[in-house]
Amino acid sequence: MDIKKTIDKMIVSSNANIEDIVNVLDSNCDNYLFQQANNIRKKYCGDEIHLRAIIEFSNHCRCDCLYCGINRQNISLERYRMNPEEIIEYAKRAYEAGYKTMVLQSGEDPWYDRGKISYIIREIKKLGDIAITLSVGEREYDDYKQWKLDGADRFLLKHETADEELYNYLHPHSTFKNRTQCLKWLKELGYQTGSGFMIGIPGQTLNTIAKDILLLKELDVDMAGIGPFISHPQTRLRNNPTGSTNLTLKTLAITRILLKRPHLPTTTSLEVTNVRDRENAFYTGANVIMRKVQPFEYRRLYEIYPNPSIKEQSIENERKEIENYVKMMGRKISSDRGDAIK
Ligand code: 5AD
Repeated sequence: MDIKKTIDKMIVSSNANIEDIVNVLDSNCDNYLFQQANNIRKKYCGDEIHLRAIIEFSNHCRCDCLYCGINRQNISLERYRMNPEEIIEYAKRAYEAGYKTMVLQSGEDPWYDRGKISYIIREIKKLGDIAITLSVGEREYDDYKQWKLDGADRFLLKHETADEELYNYLHPHSTFKNRTQCLKWLKELGYQTGSGFMIGIPGQTLNTIAKDILLLKELDVDMAGIGPFISHPQTRLRNNPTGSTNLTLKTLAITRILLKRPHLPTTTSLEVTNVRDRENAFYTGANVIMRKVQPFEYRRLYEIYPNPSIKEQSIENERKEIENYVKMMGRKISSDRGDAIK
């Protein structure tokens, strides 16, 4: 079978069946795949890289995800919550350093009820032309609706795996049906919606990854976070091998080829696994970088997976470092909010 022809067919039709995707994932045709994904990124998204500030404002979590270090059963983790004023203050600092998107992320923490999140959104919106991305997990329809009215622009809710049985096993507190229902509500409400999944989660096959990519397509996502699984010692999936970074890059490339326009970040887990692959990702379809901007003491406590590379660097210095890095790659830093490309 000619893999290049399969890739060419995907480029033209923006479609593929599971078997085609599995064949490409399983092939050694990396150079051709990556080149084509890079061309498509250039054609549809341009050379700009979007920098996002992420404020991980609480590591309290009611969830019990088998892979995640902040799962509620991890009693050895010190928990923190930033109060609304502190969140707004850090958003202000990030805005002054040049960030135009604030990703507000937390564990699923009901302490932040509808009203508290509303207040935070409205106050951050008063600071300037800032896009707000929420990433606070599964909530009621009316919460999502209110926050959209308050001015939230985007929402990230990864589907984690498109295999329903595997999803339900990995998330004893949730169901695949509710997860996808939330994603549909978010789209309906007009959020620029992001999803995503992990590569190498135990129980996943190439067939699952093909279904993951096709689910992103079906959901018609505006963003997708795809990164390798890294096992955390305080989880039930401890001692499982780290996901392959090469397979992650191939998955990114196929996603770029089939979906064309979504924003694709280089996930932190990719950086942690292999710092050179972060750079490679920008040549296989990626166009976004996110940076933690909360106080240093909270950065290492948001430990979804072990990350020895967390920096204690000021927001301004880190931003400058990334700007230089982007220039070194011959790419440009976007000066706008980096909304969904439609
Ligand atoms: N390895 C890699 N990614 C993980 N995530 C959670 N736990 C891990 C892990 N052990 C990802 C999930 C989640 C996001 C916050 O981080 O995709 O949605």
